[in-house]
Amino acid sequence: MPKAHGCGGVKTTFSPLLSTAGRIAVTHNPLIFSGNSNPQLAEEIAKRLKLHVGKALVTEFKNEETRVEIGENVRGSEVFVIQSISKMSNGKSGNDALMELLLMIDALRRASAARISAVIPYYGYAKQDKKTKGREPISAKVVANLLKVTGAKRIVTMDLHAAQIQGFFDIPVDNLMAIHVLCEHLKHQGLCDDRIVVVSPDAGGVHRAELFAKRLNASLAIVFKRRPQPDVSEVTDIVGDVSGRIAVIVDDMISTGGTLAKAAEAIKARGATKVYTVATHGIFAGDAVQVLEQSEIEKVVVTNTIPLANLEQHPKFVQLSIAQVFADAISRITTNRSVSELFATTEENPKLDGSVLLPEPVIS
Ligand code: R5P
Repeated sequence: MPKAHGCGGVKTTFSPLLSTAGRIAVTHNPLIFSGNSNPQLAEEIAKRLKLHVGKALVTEFKNEETRVEIGENVRGSEVFVIQSISKMSNGKSGNDALMELLLMIDALRRASAARISAVIPYYGYAKQDKKTKGREPISAKVVANLLKVTGAKRIVTMDLHAAQIQGFFDIPVDNLMAIHVLCEHLKHQGLCDDRIVVVSPDAGGVHRAELFAKRLNASLAIVFKRRPQPDVSEVTDIVGDVSGRIAVIVDDMISTGGTLAKAAEAIKARGATKVYTVATHGIFAGDAVQVLEQSEIEKVVVTNTIPLANLEQHPKFVQLSIAQVFADAISRITTNRSVSELFATTEENPKLDGSVLLPEPVIS
């Protein structure tokens, strides 16, 4: 990536949490628990909160049913359970991750936790948020129902595939954003200003791409795609000028990698000089890593909402930590401070403590 530091990035500092004088609204520090989905991220979040991940046995019975036992007193406590609904660090599926999350919430509720927040960095099943044809489920709603019925009193998640999934819940949903972390990284790499065109890889991502374009002071282009069948994408058109520019394709998630690989090919064919991609959630299903490695893309930047194994072996891939964003959100929830304030820039909101950013890659 080109190295330059003249893109006017927002200055970032790390602020200790739960230490703002007079703002602490709870009598105890919150308790953090994690299943097996993304324990590294949970540890990182807890560390930034100057807390530890609570003791919990999250394993399986011999018959492969999930077994949970909380190992600490939680009576009357504010509790956060951190668990992405995605393939887990231990190789088990997103379905197992969901079951762990539900059983942990149930155990905590029965153990008299005062308030249980489900912190779901990647909210799986989000793509199935409506019926596209007859006799299909709305899976995102089913997951919402399960969380609510089991006892979650708040959801903290990031870059939901469709923001309206918030409406599937009648409890508060904090839909955090990775845009600050991703844009800071891009700026740090010199990927900003009028040499750059931010590209949405489909019509649904235009709003997100507009936000990135504004922050990067770049222009905007849109790729239109169609899906002839699930997990297969085809580019149908491109709107906007990409010729002679460095393109940054922005997406919420990378699953098979087909959307980004095809978009990069089409953009290059229209004269883009280089193509970079950023996405919040790196699912990398099937042979996605190989698809992206063989694509026209220079770098694939994702966050650590989903654990990634052995990505160090692939120099094209960069993983950024969003632990600070979640730590700050948890701190603010616990102390009844604004969470949305986190997503204003310091220019837009001089009161912001600017503590959400951590541009250093954890894997690059
Ligand atoms: C689609 O609406 C999403 O924003 C992503 O573009 C899509 O989920 C990526 O999937 P894949 O990597 O399988 O093409």
